[in-house]
Amino acid sequence: MKDLFDKIYRDKGPLGKWASQAEGYFVFPKLEGQISNRMKFRGKDVITWSINDYLGLANHPEVRKTDAQAAADYGSAYPMGARMMSGHTDLHEVLQKELAEFVDKEASYLLNFGYQGMVSTIDALVAKDDIIVYDVDAHACIIDGVRLHMGKRFTYKHNDVESLEKNLERATKMAEQTGGGILVISEGVFGMRGEQGRLKEIVELKKKYNFRFLVDDAHGFGTLGKTGAGAGEEQGVQKDIDVYFATFAKSLASTGAFIAADQEIIDYLKYNLRSQMFAKSLQMQLVVGARKRLEMLKTMPELKEKLWENTNALQSGLKSRGFDIGTTQSCVTPVYLKGSIPEAMALVKDLRENHGIFCSIVVYPVIPKGLILLRMIPTATHTLVDINETLDAFEEIRTRLENGTYKRLSASVAAAMGE
Ligand SMILES: Cc1ncc(COP(=O)(O)O)c(C=O)c1O
Repeated sequence: MKDLFDKIYRDKGPLGKWASQAEGYFVFPKLEGQISNRMKFRGKDVITWSINDYLGLANHPEVRKTDAQAAADYGSAYPMGARMMSGHTDLHEVLQKELAEFVDKEASYLLNFGYQGMVSTIDALVAKDDIIVYDVDAHACIIDGVRLHMGKRFTYKHNDVESLEKNLERATKMAEQTGGGILVISEGVFGMRGEQGRLKEIVELKKKYNFRFLVDDAHGFGTLGKTGAGAGEEQGVQKDIDVYFATFAKSLASTGAFIAADQEIIDYLKYNLRSQMFAKSLQMQLVVGARKRLEMLKTMPELKEKLWENTNALQSGLKSRGFDIGTTQSCVTPVYLKGSIPEAMALVKDLRENHGIFCSIVVYPVIPKGLILLRMIPTATHTLVDINETLDAFEEIRTRLENGTYKRLSASVAAAMGE
């Protein structure tokens, strides 16, 4: 009989197998210093383009003051236990009310982490007879939530309403047999390529098909819509989203998340979300911190304005210099280049070491082979100087990519990878 660990000794997994070449640099890099537009990487100053601190709240003096005061008032333990047992407080309820009002829903419920919260939300919303129809490019937390489902599920082509409709037809037929209902899941903003989910068109399909709609708006919350209430507000369909989800990990620059829906749905979820029923309550420091951040989001529209000023400057600068930024409709700014994985590694090294630019790279299998995606997240803390420096650096790396410099530099890596 095999030892359970045999497979682990043999195969470290699709990413883990690159650990010896990549760890500490391409994966698990350590960014040091205060969270801002400029931080340190391996002792060098870098402009940071990979931190989802959209509104620049992470290190805002008022936020830091509130966080410090909350830590002094409550420590990091309070309250102890799960909400249901001993970890419930007035302030948890107050924050839920404020969040619900802000995203125009009757009620909301706090989640300790977006990831587990989403997994549990999907798990709680569907029974065996129900059918899930979801975007094939959905975030891992949606995929994992769907994995728990004991019944049928269909994916539709990424952001393709025609494909969604085909799958809704299949799902409807199947639901008529099983006696269940249908849950459709999309993201408000797809975090890799930046397109908004086609919420408006999906909601239109409700006229023809009977389904409930769950939206993960991790990247839309705080960045889109007149008030910052997200992609549903931006597209004028917030009311038609049955269950709205957002995390505190991006615009609110913290930890935690929430779901919002009709009161009766939230009352149900409150008693059935296993990740909340069997886990310690969101600590008070985070609750107090989230209230402060939400208040700032509501009362300081200049933060979102600055974010968009920077986003527009970055995106139009990239376009005018001939870069392909795909079809983004949000602050998420992808830059697509052509090259192999070893070339991508050499290019990122050049960007970090010689130009002081830190951004994430995404390669196959997340995107098609032969493409390199440099994913940039502008924030309200960036400046025009940061943007112009970055644009100049990008022109230089593009020249080197095209004249084969990175191919030469990466020859040994390519040989090791069998490319
Ligand atoms: C689309 C999306 N959903 C959910 C999550 C998970 O949220 P959290 O970091 O709060 O676990 C993320 C990442 O933060 C995300 O990008």
